[in-house]
Amino acid sequence: MKRSSIAELLKSDKFLNEVKVKGWVRTFRSNRFIALNDGSTLNNIQCVVDFETFEESLLKRITTGAAIAVKGTLIESQGKGQTVEIQVSEIKILGDSDPEIYPIQPKHHSLEFLRENAHLRIRTNTFASVMRVRSTLSYAIHKYFTDNGFYNVHTPIITGSDAEGAGEMFTVTTLDLNNPKRNESGQIDFSEDFFGKNTNLTVSGQLEAETFAMALSKVYTFGPTFRAENSNTSRHLAEFWMIEPEVAFNDLMDNMDLAEDFIKYVIKYVLINCADDLAFLEQRLIQEDKSKPQNQRAEMALLEKLKFVVNNNFKRVSYTEAIEILIDSTPNKKKKFQYIIKEWGSDLQSEHERFLVEQHFKCPVILFDYPATIKAFYMRLNEDGKTVRAMDVLFPGIGEIVGGSQREERYDVLKAKMEANHIDEKELWWYLDTRKFGTAVHSGFGLGFERLVQFVTGMGNIRDVIPFPRTPQNAEF
Ligand code: 4AD
Repeated sequence: MKRSSIAELLKSDKFLNEVKVKGWVRTFRSNRFIALNDGSTLNNIQCVVDFETFEESLLKRITTGAAIAVKGTLIESQGKGQTVEIQVSEIKILGDSDPEIYPIQPKHHSLEFLRENAHLRIRTNTFASVMRVRSTLSYAIHKYFTDNGFYNVHTPIITGSDAEGAGEMFTVTTLDLNNPKRNESGQIDFSEDFFGKNTNLTVSGQLEAETFAMALSKVYTFGPTFRAENSNTSRHLAEFWMIEPEVAFNDLMDNMDLAEDFIKYVIKYVLINCADDLAFLEQRLIQEDKSKPQNQRAEMALLEKLKFVVNNNFKRVSYTEAIEILIDSTPNKKKKFQYIIKEWGSDLQSEHERFLVEQHFKCPVILFDYPATIKAFYMRLNEDGKTVRAMDVLFPGIGEIVGGSQREERYDVLKAKMEANHIDEKELWWYLDTRKFGTAVHSGFGLGFERLVQFVTGMGNIRDVIPFPRTPQNAEF
């Protein structure tokens, strides 16, 4: 007999059918009710056992965490809480789980404890819900771009250029680290290395994606990126996934429209397709909030917050306007910010971004036209000569979720900016070439996938929205 998924059976209205399911025991009550979960849905199926029909030795092995196969009849549930249940006729233990040592007991576990057991935490409702939402978001992203005429580009993970300037990089090498060959000045001689040059894990696929946009017009990447920053925060990972669309002939305003439309689409998609998981995650947050002081509780429940983002325009504010607001703000005047904003040109920290979004505008904000000095070399210089066509999308509770720009398409300006930033032309000759042959206005952005998953699921720590987080001092599993 073919195995049914629990999700399928819970939706079924065909009673008295013989069914077979396999899954992991969540609980076994009164030697009679097995709550079985196979991950296909948040919900367990109740399997009702007549204990007189089964050997006690078998019943004893139905413990939390054990893998079992159950055959029986699907009937209308006699109890509350579910519409169907299985009247069990046959049970097979597939894999025992010793209740004395199984770490995931049916009780509250802290997120910290579960992080240490990341190989098992997916068996909890919270993590299974988060990872189902993550998977659905990933699908929605591919669907959005495919439906809108974009092509997916697989940009390299190993890169020979470190000029993006997005962060510290991880070196990729096969050299003998105990005894690398050095040149006359004492530096490691990478000409002996696997690729004959110094290579790194990529921090972004943007520069390569730009070359594709100059032929296929609308492209996007969705891949892993690596940053060796020593940022131990709830929003930083050393390995994270980024979505980077790049569009020929789009200017900064088109880029903002795309970012807003795209984010709203994927959130709407999960609101429709992950309703159970999101409702569960909302309840989890409501419970978590009860233990917090009143002023730290969320102003909106999770679903309300997601619907708010979908139904309202993002506020578009220039950097200059934002700086004026920040200089005049109470936390700045009262020196409550860790970094006081004194003048135009200051880089914005997460505390400032969150003030703008959470206290001042109370909605997602797109900041644009930043000072050239605090942004990457490839962003298009404005006519004022001091700002660039950059944009960051800021979200409540998260801060920056998207970073993007209109790219500098003018060969001479780009070349001059590279020189000013000490970027070796020899390294990025191919990037400059795209400005030599058929250059055109183009724009793109990067969305941090885990930050989006954090926002949608309401999880406070980015380590809890990626299966196996990589952070400073941590690459377990
Ligand atoms: O602003 P960033 O550095 O932009 C770029 O890398 C551009 N090349 C993107 C582009 O224009 N194509 O990063 C983009 C986004 C950030 O807004 C943030 O959401 C996320 O990537 N991000 C991180 N997420 C998790 N951990 C980190 N260490 C992150 N650094 C950036």
